[in-house]
Amino acid sequence: MMHSGESIPNNVNLGEDRRLQRALETWQPDFLKWWLEMGPTDFQKDDVYLRTAISVDASGWAHFDYVKMPDYRWGIFLVPPTGDKRIGFGDFEGQPAWQEVPGEFRNWLRRIIVTQGDTEPASVEQQRLLGHTAPSLYDLRNLFQVNVEEGRHLWAMVYLLHRFFGRDGREEAEALLERRSGNPDKPRILGAFNQPIRNWLDFFMFTMFTDRDGKYQLIALSESGFDPLARTTRFMLTEEAHHMFVGESGVQRVVERTCELMKRDPNQDPRALGGIDLPTIQKYVNLWYSVSADLFGGEISSNASNYFGAGLKGRDREGGYRDHQAMGESYTMAVPETDHLVEKSVPLRNAMNEVLRDSYIEDCQRGCDRWNKVIERAGLDLRLSIPSRRFHRNVGIYAGAHFSPDGTWIGGDEWQRRRDEWLPSEQDETFVDSLMKGIYEPGKIGSWIAPPERGVNGKPFDFEYVRFN
Ligand SMILES: [Fe+2]
Ligand SMILES: [Fe+2]
Repeated sequence: MMHSGESIPNNVNLGEDRRLQRALETWQPDFLKWWLEMGPTDFQKDDVYLRTAISVDASGWAHFDYVKMPDYRWGIFLVPPTGDKRIGFGDFEGQPAWQEVPGEFRNWLRRIIVTQGDTEPASVEQQRLLGHTAPSLYDLRNLFQVNVEEGRHLWAMVYLLHRFFGRDGREEAEALLERRSGNPDKPRILGAFNQPIRNWLDFFMFTMFTDRDGKYQLIALSESGFDPLARTTRFMLTEEAHHMFVGESGVQRVVERTCELMKRDPNQDPRALGGIDLPTIQKYVNLWYSVSADLFGGEISSNASNYFGAGLKGRDREGGYRDHQAMGESYTMAVPETDHLVEKSVPLRNAMNEVLRDSYIEDCQRGCDRWNKVIERAGLDLRLSIPSRRFHRNVGIYAGAHFSPDGTWIGGDEWQRRRDEWLPSEQDETFVDSLMKGIYEPGKIGSWIAPPERGVNGKPFDFEYVRFN
């Protein structure tokens, strides 16, 4: 399966395509240079207990061992081709899937791949300082696991650019290493990926909500009629599942700890006991959910329609729909007009971003329900919630207007007055930051978070997940 002894692990017979191999071997040192400059600060000499993808076999795709991060074997893995792959939706439904880039869709396809690719290094850059304040060795290891895998996802997209797009693909691959998260001169492409991740509550919210946008983008691309893209994103989803586990279980552990403190001393503010109060957690949910909802793009979008029609980007579980044309159908949404919302019918193809966002919202809600189970079991009345899709949006039809978390249209004055009730204030952030202290002793954990139910790969929580050198 894996072709060992090669400098780039892969299951795509890279050794048989000398030109491509040389191109990727030229890009590799630039990638490493970027990793050392923009990846995790420090910890590069330490041994981290990491999972490495070594094949796409469901039974044994990953290998766990201590690795120094710069020695991580970033590889290229696509799920194997199936015999008679057909395009599953859009104008070319039923025709053989494309194995090469269809000329008329070259620019759209490159844009889709570059946009996805750009998010991968961006998140590593956003998270680069977090190692210094990890609440436990287990969490430190999970952070680095997510980071190296986002690095591998960058490799996955760069492979497609080099293999299928010639010279401009190679230029795009270089540009992916040149943009910088949050840099006003050369920012990353999408908003949420320029947003600072200051502390571990941000990190857990990011992996819960922003990585989950990634999951749905990958799901949509795994339906693609461009088969190499479908096959590479299909495998990326395997790794992505762990990132969302880190996020959802991370928030859950924070909630669990808060409930424990509230039960222990019902008259005290959990903050005074070293925890994070539930209203503050809710504000972080509101922030990261809303910036992540933006990533799906405009509610009414001709790009979305084009990508669907061309068979490039499908719906979540496209196979489950009876009709894969989405012609003559419509989608009803609440559209702002002067000062109120009007129900409007939009041609379904133009509403594909919203259709995908619906799947995402349901998935977020399921996670939130699980957090609420923890609060309920603790016998407490408060509940967390996912805000309205209209709240705090910067992209699409709700951008520019103001909505409360329940979706009510409010004026700019009320927004200004109540903003800090709904989103983390500078004071909240300073408080959360103040709890962040690096804890590097096996089995020890920060005051604001509960230990996980179990460790990694059958190891206990107090396993030495990172050995410092
Ligand atoms: Fe990723
Ligand atoms: Fe991810």
